[in-house]
Parts: sequence; C-alpha cells; structure tokens
Amino acid sequence: MNSVNPFDTKSGNRPVILSGIQPTGGLHIGNLFGAIKNWVAMQDEYQCFFTIVDLHSITIKQVPAELRRNTLEMTAMLIACGIDTDKSVLFVQSHVPEHAQLAWVLNCYTGMGELSRMTQFKDKSVQHSENIVVGLFAYPVLMAADILLYQADMVPVGEDQKQHLELSRDIAQRFNHNYSDTFKIPEPYIPQTGARIMSLQEPTKKMSKSDGNTKATIFLTDSDEEIKNKIRRAVTDSGELLTEKDFEIFSVNQESFSEFIYSRPGLGNLISLYQLATSKSLNEIGKDLAGKGFGDIKSIVADAMANHLNPTRTRYNEIRKDENKLKEILSAGAEKAHAVAFKTLRKVYKKVGFYAL
Ligand code: TYM
Repeated sequence: MNSVNPFDTKSGNRPVILSGIQPTGGLHIGNLFGAIKNWVAMQDEYQCFFTIVDLHSITIKQVPAELRRNTLEMTAMLIACGIDTDKSVLFVQSHVPEHAQLAWVLNCYTGMGELSRMTQFKDKSVQHSENIVVGLFAYPVLMAADILLYQADMVPVGEDQKQHLELSRDIAQRFNHNYSDTFKIPEPYIPQTGARIMSLQEPTKKMSKSDGNTKATIFLTDSDEEIKNKIRRAVTDSGELLTEKDFEIFSVNQESFSEFIYSRPGLGNLISLYQLATSKSLNEIGKDLAGKGFGDIKSIVADAMANHLNPTRTRYNEIRKDENKLKEILSAGAEKAHAVAFKTLRKVYKKVGFYAL
C-alpha cells in the first residue's frame, strides 16, 4: 500500500493539492469529470487534502437532517470514486475550526468591490433572491481560507471555480505583500475535457445538482435505466450529422473541437461525455459515431455512460453501509488536516499582531 502520512517529513516534499465539494445533494457527472477524476489521478504524486465543505453549504438554506445525511453520503461516494484515505486526507470542513478562523482574518483583507464582481454570487443571489445572506457574499473568502491553510500548490476544479481561485491568489498575494511570505500562491488545475459538463436539457447551462429539472442532471446514484433514459432524452439540435473526417479534424485540432462544442452544445456535450466514459480518442470516437443519427448516438452514449458508472455505484452501496468506518475515516482526516491548518493559522495570527499567550 502506498500510504502517505502528512505528518511525515518525506511526504511534506510532495506538492500539495487541496480541493473541496459541497455536500448539497448527490455527486453528479459534472463533479465527477470536472473535478473528482483529477483528484483520484493526483493522489500518488501529490499530498492531497480533499474537503467536504459543509460551511459553504449553509450559504443557501439547508434542511439540517439532509445536510447531515448528505455529508456522510458524499464521504462514501468520494471513496467509491477512488479517493484512497491511506494516501489522501479526506475531511469535513466544519471539523477543522481553522477554516472559519482564517476566513475571518481574510475577510479583513478583501474588498467589497472584489466580492461584488464574483459571477457565482450574482447568479446565486438571483436564484435565491429571498435569502441573500452575508455568508453567500463572503463565500469566496472562505474558499481562499480552505486553500491557503494547506499551502496548496494546485487546486483541481471545474471551469466554474476559476474566478474564485483567481481571487484566492489575489488575497494571498496581498497578504504576503502587506506582511511577508505567508501563503503559497495556488495554481488552478482545470481539465481540458470535462471542465464544463452541460445540462442535458439546456445545454448552454452547466449541469448542476440544484437544477429543478431532474432530467437535466445525471447523479452517480442513478440506476442504469435512469442514466440511459436521461441521455436518450437529452436535448440536441437538428443540425448536420458528423462525418469521420470531422472527427479527424477534431483530433488534430483541439480548438476546432472546442468551437464545435460552442456552436452545437447539446451534441458537443454528448460527444464529450462519450469521450470521458470510454477514454477513447476523438479518432476512435469518429469510428463509433460518425454518420449516425441523433437517436443512435444517444443510445451509444447512454450505454457507455451506464457501463462506466455502474461499478462506482455498486462500490458506493457497499461502503455506505458501514457508517462507523466512515466516521473513523472522517475523524482521522480531521486530525491530520487540523495539524497542518493549525500551523498556518498560528503564523497568520502572529503576523497580523494578535497577542499570543
Ligand atoms: P461544487 O460543490 O459546486 O462542485 C465541486 C467540483 O465540481 C466541479 N463542477 C463541475 N465541473 C464540470 N462541469 C460541471 N457541470 C460542474 N459542476 C461542478 C466544480 O468546479 C468543483 O470543482 N466552491 C466549490 C467548493 C469549494 C472548493 C474549495 C473547491 C470550497 N472550497 C476550495 C476548491 C478549493 C463548489 O461549490 O464546488
């Protein structure tokens, strides 16, 4: 077993990864392909911290019992997807108080103007106009605290988190400039394919767990039949069919594929999903999909996606049963995370001039 102990000085030499996910509803294939797949792939090379960000979740109204259940289910699902807790630190954000503590300090180094430019805040305050709370506005500062506490070198996320990451870098640079080097400046890691999985019903919108239309989002707990039905009913256009030549061009020119996805988002999304589910090259995909009608394409993609997700769901159902084991994992994760976070916070408190006992 390739076990990494974050207290071990040798593992301290590895570059650090930190990423997070909200325990609101289940994991969907946008989370899987935009983020989690990369988390899993990075575990051998990096010292990884993965956090289930319950503090972030309450910026939108939650039902307490559901939030509690979702946190445990998210833990089980992340393990089922391949997060190996012998290699990586998996923990719940509220179990490590330094996140809220550093966020408060960073709030005092972040401008109101900077936060008002965040597109996610603008979008969410329209969606939740009856309950726009201070926490929603300050959300990106808490995210910066998550990242900076662990001195992360890299943050694997989907495209939608890019702006938040840029803000984290700005806050860290400002703090370092005001005092002295305190935080490492984190780099975003955004995958080429999968960074933005689109809704199956409105392919110009990103796939999201809070979509009111249940046909728009594929959850990792969906049955084979549900997955297939959702893909077979996906919205596409009525444009021309693709030829093998088109796929050959896509395979040598990534930009032309990106342009295609932009101009025909429904079909482009399905092709990306097929690519992600099968790990085939665009050339090989051409052999499977070129010249086929939309109905056939959807059936092929539907079968591939159901086959791809089936083993994860089976593992999840097993892992979810052992609640005590999950609690043990989270408790060990919190302890390891706290040991690292504590050091950064202590440094920050000293720099800003808090009187230490
Ligand atoms: P969250 O919980 O919305 O999503 C978790 C991860 O999934 C990615 N993602 C997608 N990728 C591709 N296509 C989609 N349709 C799609 N939907 C979601 C997100 O980009 C993200 O990487 N603010 C974060 C959680 C967070 C965090 C952090 C992330 C809190 N602290 C520190 C990184 C570092 C969020 O709400 O992600």
